[in-house]
Amino acid sequence: MTDTATNEQLAVATPQKNQLDERGLLRYGKMLIDGQWVDAVSGQTFAAIYPGTGATIANVASGDSADVALAAQAARRAFDSGPWPKMNGSERAKLLWKVADLMEQNIEELAELETLNNGKPLLESLRVDLPQSIACFRYFAGWSGKVMGQTIEPEARANALCYTLREPVGVCGQIIPWNFPIQMAAWKIAPALACGNTVVIKPAEQTSLSILRLGELMMEAGLPNGVVNIITGFGATAGAALVEHPEVDKIAFTGSVEVGKAIMRSAANTLKKVTLELGGKSPNIVFADSNLELAAKYALSGIFFNQGQMCTAGSRIMIERSARDQFMEVLTARAKKMTVGDPLNMKTRMGSLISQEQMERVLGYIEKGKQAGAALVAGGERVGSQGYFVQPTVFDEVQHEMEIAQEEIFGPVASVITFEDVNDALRIANGTRFGLAAGIWTNDIKKALTFAKNVHAGTVWVNTYNMTDNALPFGGYKESGIGRELGPAALEMYTHSKTVWVELG
Ligand code: NAI
Ligand code: MG
Repeated sequence: MTDTATNEQLAVATPQKNQLDERGLLRYGKMLIDGQWVDAVSGQTFAAIYPGTGATIANVASGDSADVALAAQAARRAFDSGPWPKMNGSERAKLLWKVADLMEQNIEELAELETLNNGKPLLESLRVDLPQSIACFRYFAGWSGKVMGQTIEPEARANALCYTLREPVGVCGQIIPWNFPIQMAAWKIAPALACGNTVVIKPAEQTSLSILRLGELMMEAGLPNGVVNIITGFGATAGAALVEHPEVDKIAFTGSVEVGKAIMRSAANTLKKVTLELGGKSPNIVFADSNLELAAKYALSGIFFNQGQMCTAGSRIMIERSARDQFMEVLTARAKKMTVGDPLNMKTRMGSLISQEQMERVLGYIEKGKQAGAALVAGGERVGSQGYFVQPTVFDEVQHEMEIAQEEIFGPVASVITFEDVNDALRIANGTRFGLAAGIWTNDIKKALTFAKNVHAGTVWVNTYNMTDNALPFGGYKESGIGRELGPAALEMYTHSKTVWVELG
């Protein structure tokens, strides 16, 4: 259903902060280029949807290569000759703090926009996504002006003073997904600006709205024109044009492996710096000697948080054979109690998937799991006929080779795999093309640390799951990506090192 919502449906949606006009539409629609809010050169727009009902809630400019070119040129000018390059780090820090303060002052409005456009529970938008995004701006504000080079003694010559400078990369093209829209924008914009870069960001076509509002707040904070530009539009047009544009010095991408690979191929033509944060099929490994109750609780939140639409989703729950029956009893009982509900109701803990397309993808994998002979022990069905709600689903008796144990489903589907011992666990854990994250539950310190050392993953959690922090590097091994975001590692991704040799002899 893609009709404009009726007033009755919107009464269900109860937007408080975001007023809808008489057609039931939000005011967002223009893109931000060089400090101005503009329509697409082509005049085309596309619908922004509320996944909870499938209703259109805004019409957004459909940017393409013409708009990307204007934005890239604006970002280039802002980087080369605007007030931005003259500003020192402490001044940029103040601006980033101001952005965070304005986000905080408008937190309810932003959270509501996030839920209206994404379908995730309002409670989570308000208590998780927004606070973490605000903290991200503050964390990187703290780094601004503190990204330092080194003085290095040359190995073969005494009479020289040699040092390195860390300089911004330039114009950063940033392409982000729809699962955590504003948070992904913060992860990318904040470190880029802290290091003195300028930005052209393209939100996912499903979720432009909170990022457009963020753009307004950034302008209100006093960011110079052209420092952050927002191009709304589709991947094949706006996204691809951004990757191809010669004035763009770097691409930072979060999304599917398939598109990540296409971006890397395309970026080879201009040798842009590329960082990629891609998918995962992360194992969450439970040993018999762990706290099984706690492990089951975290295993469920590890896969069902954000409706399972997470790159770090603990989508392979692995249980040691000797504890299997006991663990599965707790896990299934708890999973069956979880329900989906109206995303805008503050009591709801699981909302809607992002789109019809994603729901069909997920239901398709559930079908594949059944056909492959896995045992469906919870969920497995769509809920209702409006919106894109899918039951929290658990498959037991999953074999390592099955598609549901190898492919990223990106929905509320857990695959439970039984393992025999430590070596078996490690073999299964490392036996996919991904390497984003891994969890291990055990009270044996030696087992935990040996596993942490040997598992192929960018993040390892011991006796917890899904913890990320703005100060800690995040990224993947193998096909889960290239480069690291967050923490000091992000600063390296957004700067060049320049070596200066001063001859003293
Ligand atoms: P996608 O990779 O197509 O979309 C992510 C972003 O890339 C969006 O902004 C999109 O417009 C852009 N994009 C798409 N094609 C592009 C191209 N040729 N050039 C430049 N940019 C392009 O992901 P999609 O189709 O939304 O989801 C498909 C699957 O991808 C999901 O089921 C999930 O498995 C995975 N995914 C992983 C994410 C993660 O956090 N690692 C986030 C989103 C999706
Ligand atoms: Mg796609």
